[in-house]
Amino acid sequence: MPIKLTSSLAGVTFANPLLNAAGVHCATPTELDEVLASAAGGVVTKSATLAPRDGNVRPRFQALPLGSINSMGLPNQGFDAYLAYACAHQQAATAPVILSLAGLSLADDLAMLRRVQESDFTGLVELNLSCPNVPGKPQVAYDFAAVTRVLDQAFQFFTKRLGIKLPPYLDLAQFDALAAILNRYPLAYVNAINSLGNGLVIDPLTERPVIRPKGGFGGIGGAYVKPTALANVRAWRQRLNPTIGIIGTGGVRTGTDVFEHLLCGADLVQVGTALATEGPAIFARLTRELTAVMATKGYQTLADFRGKLQVR
Ligand code: FUM
Repeated sequence: MPIKLTSSLAGVTFANPLLNAAGVHCATPTELDEVLASAAGGVVTKSATLAPRDGNVRPRFQALPLGSINSMGLPNQGFDAYLAYACAHQQAATAPVILSLAGLSLADDLAMLRRVQESDFTGLVELNLSCPNVPGKPQVAYDFAAVTRVLDQAFQFFTKRLGIKLPPYLDLAQFDALAAILNRYPLAYVNAINSLGNGLVIDPLTERPVIRPKGGFGGIGGAYVKPTALANVRAWRQRLNPTIGIIGTGGVRTGTDVFEHLLCGADLVQVGTALATEGPAIFARLTRELTAVMATKGYQTLADFRGKLQVR
């Protein structure tokens, strides 16, 4: 029997579970096209703000031995551009497009969601509640009252499929409290995790941070965060309604990393830092490696092992 990598999230089918993480190789139509032309199962747009943004001063991204630090500050071409791309590609695309939104205020979030609701776009929409890099704007998802406000108001009019991008949580009480809130809404999925916010990486030679914005504070990604990402995927799968899917993001460099995210319960898996350094060819390598892992273990579909992490 051939190995099948198909996966579905909220009724949308993906040929394989791999996508870019929002923010990586997805800011321009060219980059989005390149992901769609690769072996990725789908593509996520750069998180859009209502108006285009240049983002933070440079240097604002630095690759590191085990990952990366970034403080991009949401550089993007603006909501209209990404909505147009998503609408134009939803029929013809070889793979689904997820539209990511990151308003700079509750009003901006709601304004963009209203526009999506009125648009022809029928695919998945992701509300990014966890960008750590906009000076003066705390991460919404660490404020559970703010999460409640945005979901309460969004679901008064939004009837399309909405997921949310969450930051890493580090205490089980946080998962319990937020799951009790999220389970009240018809969410399509949660995406865990965004980068581990406000790390600081220093170059001891120059005695300066390696990036410039925010005094050097930035989101940490890559292998540094894989254990945290896996724990978050697992913790959400243990607590959220089964109707709420999960995208696992964080620390994916190999097919085995993808396998581990799926084992923790992810429906789809996104690649951030490793895509930034290796480019879209990474998706062919990861699908090959995931297939090899499954063949070794005798698994034929993702459902054979998804969420079936064994306990000791
Ligand atoms: O700074 C950035 O553009 C990152 C956004 C995010 O992590 O969501």
